[in-house]
Amino acid sequence: MKTLIVYCSYHHGNTKKVALAMGEVAKAEVVEEAQARNIDFSKYDLIGFGSGIYGFGFDKKMVALIESASLENKEVFVFSTNDSGSVRNHQAVLNILEGKKAKVLGNFSCKGWDTFGPFKLIGGRAKNHPDASDLNNAKEFIKGIITK
Ligand SMILES: Cc1cc2nc3c(=O)[nH]c(=O)nc-3n(C[C@H](O)[C@H](O)[C@H](O)COP(=O)(O)O)c2cc1C
Repeated sequence: MKTLIVYCSYHHGNTKKVALAMGEVAKAEVVEEAQARNIDFSKYDLIGFGSGIYGFGFDKKMVALIESASLENKEVFVFSTNDSGSVRNHQAVLNILEGKKAKVLGNFSCKGWDTFGPFKLIGGRAKNHPDASDLNNAKEFIKGIITK
């Protein structure tokens, strides 16, 4: 199975860590969003889109990339890191993927260290995340996807 993982991770590289952990298990090509703009998505059997959550959603560049991609019948998954480790801010991206008739196989999130704005005064939120347990969860998630 040829797998591509695309990520946006400008704050602390939290999402990049998750992308690389997943990529190791899936033997995937792992690239930043800017490198994926000219990629032919049709070459891949499975594509993962991951981002930090910035202002209640995925990075706008990632949203634009997904909006511009041909993904009909393509197997995809999405993931993020954020303050709470919740998938609740994935909905906008899931709606776009659904509109494109992509097959969403899963949805993963974990905490990521956040020093944005006033949080830096207290050393940030979700310090030390993603940790070994988060990365292990990410690996188990992708194992579940590739054996589907
Ligand atoms: C500009 C900015 C806005 C953020 N907005 C949110 C948010 O709305 N909800 C949330 O849970 N975390 C928010 N965060 C925290 C990030 O999602 C978290 O630190 C994430 O792990 C960053 O990923 P990265 O290191 O891969 O960029 C924000 C961080 C930044 C820098």
